Amino acid sequence: MPQDTFDLVIAANRLPVDRVREGGRSVWRRSPGGLVTAMESVMSGRDGAWIGWSGVPGKAPAAFEQGGMSLHPVALSAEEVRDYYEGFSNASLWPLYHDVIVPPTFRRRWQSAYDGVNRRFAETAAGLAAKNATVWVHDYQLQQVPQLLRELRPDLRIGWFNHIPFPPVELFMQLPARDAMLRGLLGADFLGFQRRTDAQNFLRACRQLLVDDDISVKADVVHAPDGHECRAAAVPISIDTAGMAELAETSGVQERAAEIRKQLGNPEHLLLGIDRLDYTKGIRHRLKALEEMYREGTLDPTETKFIQVATPSRERLDAYQHIKSEVEQTVGRINGEHAIFGAPPVTYLHRSFPREEMAAMFVAADVMLVTPLRDGMNLVAKEYVAAHDHSGALVLSEFTGAANELKQSYLCNPHDIARTKRTITRAIEASPEERARRMRAMHRQVQRHDVQHWAERFLSNLAAAPRQP
Ligand code: ADP
Ligand code: F6P
Repeated sequence: MPQDTFDLVIAANRLPVDRVREGGRSVWRRSPGGLVTAMESVMSGRDGAWIGWSGVPGKAPAAFEQGGMSLHPVALSAEEVRDYYEGFSNASLWPLYHDVIVPPTFRRRWQSAYDGVNRRFAETAAGLAAKNATVWVHDYQLQQVPQLLRELRPDLRIGWFNHIPFPPVELFMQLPARDAMLRGLLGADFLGFQRRTDAQNFLRACRQLLVDDDISVKADVVHAPDGHECRAAAVPISIDTAGMAELAETSGVQERAAEIRKQLGNPEHLLLGIDRLDYTKGIRHRLKALEEMYREGTLDPTETKFIQVATPSRERLDAYQHIKSEVEQTVGRINGEHAIFGAPPVTYLHRSFPREEMAAMFVAADVMLVTPLRDGMNLVAKEYVAAHDHSGALVLSEFTGAANELKQSYLCNPHDIARTKRTITRAIEASPEERARRMRAMHRQVQRHDVQHWAERFLSNLAAAPRQP
């Protein structure tokens, strides 16, 4: 008989797999994004349940088992996809939490859909959690779940981890639903953030916007209205470092990496960018830098090739359609100006790839360009480092969580195109000794701080939280 309650329940907007149509049939495919990359590794081998949306509107498919986990789809109607997911989550919160790179939009209708969906997640988690179980809630789409869940099941230990930045209070306070978001999170026993600054931004927002008779903040602890304590701290996420390093060393991946280089005409320098096609990732700024370098002759289009993988994302939203057409126009322009027959300088790939192909691209690339304007962490940067132990070079934006840890990368400010160009040149021209020194240090960092280490830190912080009085 299938198990009906669990000691560990994960609640995330998406399941690790997405329901998609392929060749006229509905099939499950791996969901996009860093949350799934990280949590898939954490959950394999742990006996737990994962609740999340299937990726399509309408009735939820029945619960099913996969990779030792029990997956429980949560239904979203077409209106909820529009108002909760595309609206409140990705047109209000996402741009606001990423430094208003595009202006956030606020609609009252979206907020009630967000509240309704968060209630459904809380009820589903309450129904699946065993007595005194741990429920680990993820990301900005589910900020009301901790408090709703505490009201339904005060026996549970409730943790929440934010995969994206938490903005400074001066920006956060634009949000009409700001008090509700903070009070929703305060239902948790422990709140994990990518950087210390994110945890401090949250605590400052509580201090500035909430403190009255029923709430007080001391150091990193908020005393919630019902008397329980909610602690906020940085627990930076990571990757399955050993898994990526082993995969990168397999003969299949090594041969495929050599083949990729050969297919590109064995360039002297191969540069790589891999991102969801999102305006936060700085793809436009990166392409601008490269376009100028090809034009000025700092880069020779026959010797230096660039692969840009841009994974389809949130395609119905205007801001995403806009960035897609800008990227495609720029790639078209660069190739139009600089390609010779059969050999364009930029290879643009707008689709998903199996893990092995991703690893082969990492191994093949001499320089990885990770230039977001703001990113909670950026796991791609860590994956590249895991795939190399003494070769390769990483150009990394200062505005990523990863920049706090990968200090031997070539750090850049992607808004400063002139210096970014110089940084790319430095990375390309660095001696093998310099590259090896930098890469070894970064490789050690991601080896020591891998995804299991992250999950253990998060769960032990949660377990150490004092029980409700
Ligand atoms: P985000 O969570 O914002 O998408 P991250 O860099 O933290 O960004 O995580 C992205 C994850 O998705 C990484 O594990 C990366 O390897 C994976 N990924 C990105 N693009 C693709 C793709 N086209 N095919 C397969 N996996 C991808
Ligand atoms: O961490 C950022 C995030 O929103 C995750 O929740 C998710 O893994 C990823 O980006 C992909 O976004 P979406 O689920 O909207 O396709």
